[in-house]
Amino acid sequence: MRQAIVLALVLVAMLAVPVCAEDPEGSGVLTAEVASSDVMPLPEPVRSGVISIEYVIDHRRSVRAFTDAQVTIKDLGQLLWAAQGITGEDGVKRAAPSAGAKYPMEIFVVAGKVTWLGPGVYHYRPESHDLAIVKKGDFRQALSDAALSQEWIMSAPVSIVITGVYERTMEKYGERGTRYVHIEAGAVAENIYLQAVALKLGTTYVGAFSDEDVKAILGADDVAPLGILPVGAPR
Ligand SMILES: Cc1cc2nc3c(=O)[nH]c(=O)nc-3n(C[C@H](O)[C@H](O)[C@H](O)COP(=O)(O)O)c2cc1C
Repeated sequence: MRQAIVLALVLVAMLAVPVCAEDPEGSGVLTAEVASSDVMPLPEPVRSGVISIEYVIDHRRSVRAFTDAQVTIKDLGQLLWAAQGITGEDGVKRAAPSAGAKYPMEIFVVAGKVTWLGPGVYHYRPESHDLAIVKKGDFRQALSDAALSQEWIMSAPVSIVITGVYERTMEKYGERGTRYVHIEAGAVAENIYLQAVALKLGTTYVGAFSDEDVKAILGADDVAPLGILPVGAPR
């Protein structure tokens, strides 16, 4: 009964497709106060599946051709949880390892065709497992242009953008901190790849892009873009 009430509340929240946040061009995305109407709660992630880790490693392949099918909000939430979800009983530790537990990664979503989610740019917030809207509109073409015109990116229903804040890790490790942040981006990306296989979705790590153009799309000056993962059902 309690589960049914929680599910009903999540569904009601999901029906309220968020509107555009203030200051879409601003650089304060990570620290901005976000009105509750600008937040999309994500469904509770599945923490125990039936597909083996060996199977998903064996079937992981970079996928660059997608069907027209929308990605569901449930699957998107699951991918974001795999990327940076809170998994520690302490309420702090995350799905991917982090040097000194500094957690420098910030994950963004460029959504085009996702169920219950309007086209737009969103920022994933692991603590509340939700998406805060950055700006409204379909930015997939702009993202494809920013990725040195890799046109296939445009056909993905949604892209997950991995970014890092070097200062968080450099505070403890100095210059070596930048290396650690890059390593962490790889761990996050692999989690997304493997979770995608388990969901019968596909993705590719895109490292070729203009940093400035991607930052402009994300409306965030204070992050370093480290990878774009377009996601969809493999064609
Ligand atoms: C750091 C990194 C950057 C990459 N950048 C791109 C890219 O910009 N565009 C692309 O199509 N694939 C990119 N890839 C995917 C590789 O081409 C792909 O992993 C490789 O061909 C091996 O294929 P597999 O992933 O199916 O095993 C990148 C992979 C990595 C790890």
